[in-house]
Amino acid sequence: MPFVVTEPCIQCKFTDCVAACPVDCFRDGPNFLVIDPDECIDCGACVPECPVEAIFDAESVPEEWAEYIEINKKLAAVWPSISEATDPLETADSWKKVEAKEQYLHLDETAAAALEKAPYGPPPKAPPGDAAADASSPPADGPADEAAPAASPPPAAVPEPEPEAASAPPGPAQAAPALAESPTIRVEEPHVPSDPGPTESTAPPPRVEGAGMARKVARKVLPRRLRSSLKKALGRS
Ligand code: SF4
Ligand code: F3S
Repeated sequence: MPFVVTEPCIQCKFTDCVAACPVDCFRDGPNFLVIDPDECIDCGACVPECPVEAIFDAESVPEEWAEYIEINKKLAAVWPSISEATDPLETADSWKKVEAKEQYLHLDETAAAALEKAPYGPPPKAPPGDAAADASSPPADGPADEAAPAASPPPAAVPEPEPEAASAPPGPAQAAPALAESPTIRVEEPHVPSDPGPTESTAPPPRVEGAGMARKVARKVLPRRLRSSLKKALGRS
C-alpha cells in the first residue's frame, strides 16, 4: 500500500520527507504535499522524517484522516513533482500543533477542480485564536465562504447585518400595512364601549303623548288640587 500525507502537513510543509524519498513521488501544493500512490514504493523512509508525523501507510491512516487517501491520489495528478527539500513555510512553527486544519488547505483553481470543491486560499498566516498575529496577517484572497471543503468549512464569513429598515421596529406608519398584509396577524378594530344609556333610576319618566295640551287645559279649567293630581298622573311630580 502507498503512503499518504495527512492533515498535520497543512500550513507546515517541512519537506524533510522529500529528501528521504528515493523515487521522488512527492507532489507540491501551496501549503501541503501529497504522495503519488502510483510512484510510491512503500519503503517508509519518509515517515520518521516528518516533524509533525503527517505520513502514514494507507492501511494505518487514522480514521479521522481517511479521506486523505483520496486527496493524495487526486492532487498528485495535478500538482508538480518536488524532488528537493525546501525551507518550511513561514507559518510552519505556529501551525504545527494546530488541529482540524483541513479547512485551511489552500486550493488553487486546479486543485479545487480536482477535488470538486470551491477554490480557497491562501489561508491566514496566524492560526485560529492568535489575535496578535491575526491582526498582521493579510486577508485570504479566496472566497472563504465558498471555498470550504465539504466536511470542514473554512472560517465563516462575518454575516452581513440586516438592512436597517428590516431590523428597526416599524413606526406607526409602517406597522399598519405590515400587519394588514400579514396572513397570520389579524388587525382588530378598536373596541368602542357601547353607551349603556341612562340607568332606570336617573332616566326621566316617559312623557305621555298629548300631555302638554292637557296641562294647558287643566291650568285654565281645573282647580289647583285637581291640577296637581293631574300632573302626577301625567308624570310631572
Ligand atoms: Fe517515498 Fe518511500 Fe515515502 Fe513512498 S514511502 S513517499 S517511496 S519515501
Ligand atoms: Fe509535510 Fe511532513 Fe513532509 S510536514 S512536507 S509531510 S516532512
